[in-house]
Amino acid sequence: MTYGADDRLDTPPVTDWVNDWDWLDDGWGENAIDIWNSVRDQCPIGSTERYGRAFMPVTMDAVRDIANNTDDFSSVWVNVARPDAPRAAAPPITSDPPDHHGHRRLILPAFNPKAVANVEQELREYCRKLIRELDGMDATDAALHYTQHIPVHGICILTGLPEGDADLFRDWIYKTFQLAPKDNTIRLQVLTEMSQYIDGLLKDRLVNPKDDLLTTIANAQIDGVDVDWGIKIGYVRLQIVAGIDTTWSAIGSGIWHFAQHNDEVQRLIAVDNDDMLWQTANEEVLRYYAPVTMARKVINDVTVQGCPMHVGDQTLVTFPAANHDPAAFEDAHIFKLDRENNRHVAFGLGIHRCAGSNLARLEMLVAFQEWLRAFPNYSLDPAKKTTWANGQVRGPRQIPVLLNR
Ligand code: HEM
Repeated sequence: MTYGADDRLDTPPVTDWVNDWDWLDDGWGENAIDIWNSVRDQCPIGSTERYGRAFMPVTMDAVRDIANNTDDFSSVWVNVARPDAPRAAAPPITSDPPDHHGHRRLILPAFNPKAVANVEQELREYCRKLIRELDGMDATDAALHYTQHIPVHGICILTGLPEGDADLFRDWIYKTFQLAPKDNTIRLQVLTEMSQYIDGLLKDRLVNPKDDLLTTIANAQIDGVDVDWGIKIGYVRLQIVAGIDTTWSAIGSGIWHFAQHNDEVQRLIAVDNDDMLWQTANEEVLRYYAPVTMARKVINDVTVQGCPMHVGDQTLVTFPAANHDPAAFEDAHIFKLDRENNRHVAFGLGIHRCAGSNLARLEMLVAFQEWLRAFPNYSLDPAKKTTWANGQVRGPRQIPVLLNR
């Protein structure tokens, strides 16, 4: 493999997922669960040379060992990409101890349980509005007309990002996750565009402060010292790339799943919205269809579950694969609506555990409740195909359904 300064890295289709995995292979998105299971049958950690040397842990133990070890694994690289890829800081996710703590403390209050609970009714009204827009239709694309809009609405309320720019955000996210790991030109272009855009937003908040996270970030200090402007831009970039297609993917996976399991839909809509069954169903969607895989850079030679890794290598932190490890979950391969003791790692482990998990859970719950009650007999449209995003954030991007009113 050669890595020119600006060339696109073209790679052949994968035939060996243990020794030559590629999360941007066309087969990954739709088949990832089967891929992880088949690799796990052979070894706890797969590898590839496509992006330099990079590993893919598929057991809970291996994922836990990496996520909890901030001495040997750094978050400066949080996606596996060409080794010469330009990277930019987006703390707290790209920071290591001791800096990580201060960055995280700045962001967390915006997503605490009280702040999130305040937006529930607004989210519910918004879902109902999206559903009303389908009046008179027999079929739709549930990703295009429903799932993709809900997280943008939630994140914009909580941060102050302008919702009118949703298409722009989704375009940047698509390019960041689907194209940029193999293409430095696109990566640089997106980084530059996002930085210029965010720079404008933050400068505006300095002169026109509002009661929102953008204003907090524009004025951010840690221990009485102004945070570097480039880091402030990174904080906002993280809100956009971490807060939108993650939850979009989780909601979409649930809508796709329930379209094929009407018995489960009937069980859910038979109980009140505050019944525990809704909570366990939400957690099981998160376990079974966990959308987010992270990555780390190896900064010391280290051995994980018998697998030697060397300085400069990259590794995935394949949280979704750990969620399917039969050593960690009874009947891991079965989707159980009322699963108890569901200690999934969809939101990660250790110091980087998801800062937006309260919001993500609420958006999912409300989206499912409103959709399943509105369309209790919906099903996949057999004449059309669901398409999946591959790579770091996995989830359905087109979900053609019949509404069967
Ligand atoms: C279902 C939806 C979501 C999933 C599955 C998810 C998953 C994750 C995971 C696995 C991590 C750990 C990263 C690591 O170990 O390197 C993480 C971190 C993070 N997530 Fe989420 N996320 C979701 C939604 C959100 C939302 C809505 C936000 C709001 C902005 C958000 C903000 C963050 C932030 C700021 C971090 C970094 C925390 C840190 O480094 O301390 N996430 N997320």
